[in-house]
Amino acid sequence: DASDIEKGTYPYYMLKEIDEQPLVIRRLIEKYRNEQGELAIDEDIVQAINEADRLYIVACGTSYHAGLVGKQLIENWAKIPVEVHIASEFSYNMPLLSEKPLFIYISQSGETADSRAVLVRTKELGHKSLTITNVPGSTLSREADYTLLLHAGPEIAVASTKAYTAQIAVLAMLAAVAAKAKGIELNVDVTKELGIVANAMETLCDAKQEMEQIAREYLATTRNCFFIGRAVDYYVVLEGALKLKEISYIQAEGFAGGELKHGTIALIENGTPVIALATQEHVNLSIRGNVKEVVARGANPCIISMKGLDMEDDRFVIPAVHPMLTPLASVVPLQLIAYYAALHRGCDVDKPRNLAKSVTVE
Ligand code: AGP
Repeated sequence: DASDIEKGTYPYYMLKEIDEQPLVIRRLIEKYRNEQGELAIDEDIVQAINEADRLYIVACGTSYHAGLVGKQLIENWAKIPVEVHIASEFSYNMPLLSEKPLFIYISQSGETADSRAVLVRTKELGHKSLTITNVPGSTLSREADYTLLLHAGPEIAVASTKAYTAQIAVLAMLAAVAAKAKGIELNVDVTKELGIVANAMETLCDAKQEMEQIAREYLATTRNCFFIGRAVDYYVVLEGALKLKEISYIQAEGFAGGELKHGTIALIENGTPVIALATQEHVNLSIRGNVKEVVARGANPCIISMKGLDMEDDRFVIPAVHPMLTPLASVVPLQLIAYYAALHRGCDVDKPRNLAKSVTVE
């Protein structure tokens, strides 16, 4: 059938979609650039963002994880306060809103019922909204005031990969453009930095054998797996754990490195895999301290660090990218590890049990 043709020589859509990520980032650089080669986003959207006193990002699952990274980018670069909310909680447990809120709905499919329920509610309250989606003409796109497209091409695998990195790239560009409109001097050439990210992603996509080896060694028979990170790495390990859970059925949790000792460390046993990310200089020593804490309890550590911050026993080193854009690179090995873990455990990678690609019920 048609879907077989699209998959080409790949055994699963997920692997194809992981491999498409450098291309999607390069495409986004082209799509969000004006004739002078500068980053450009619809002026109405930039104005709406800069008129808001607070942004409320609303999303589910992987899109929510992208929103967490987006909060960091927007707060750091554009200096606008951002809250990130899980859609299914927001509807029933509304936070106190600021005076001039702008709602940003992040949804690959644009059809997620939980997110739509919030959009309906915030529209009733008269608040403006922007949808960031991969599907033009989708419900969330039609019903919001503004749309930014992800241009990632159809994402077929239930486990979202290229949409996540596209969401972060769009949020980074949005943050940079909003900063510029506010007269904030950034000192970051975001277009150039995203180009460096695309190259790094390519190198990471070529590291399939290493990731397969890690999956085999750490995850072939384990019951559970912990992911730890600090600062923005914490947000990325949440996504790494979700990927692993949904396709390999291994109980996986992402934790803030410093939070483990407040309870979760009780779960560490002899041989428990702990995958740690270390891409942030200001927390490099502290995350390594957290790894030592779990190793002392018998954990089997797998440190994935960034070039320049790497240390002797690191299992894998990702190429250096701009410190604010590391999630775009560091998530790729986590996606591949999840993929190979699922493959080796005989799971249906593209169609995991109990899940649908877009969740159209509340
Ligand atoms: C991701 O791997 C999941 N399958 C899921 O969490 C997904 O991201 C979530 O359901 C949100 O979907 P959306 O982006 O289409 O709204």
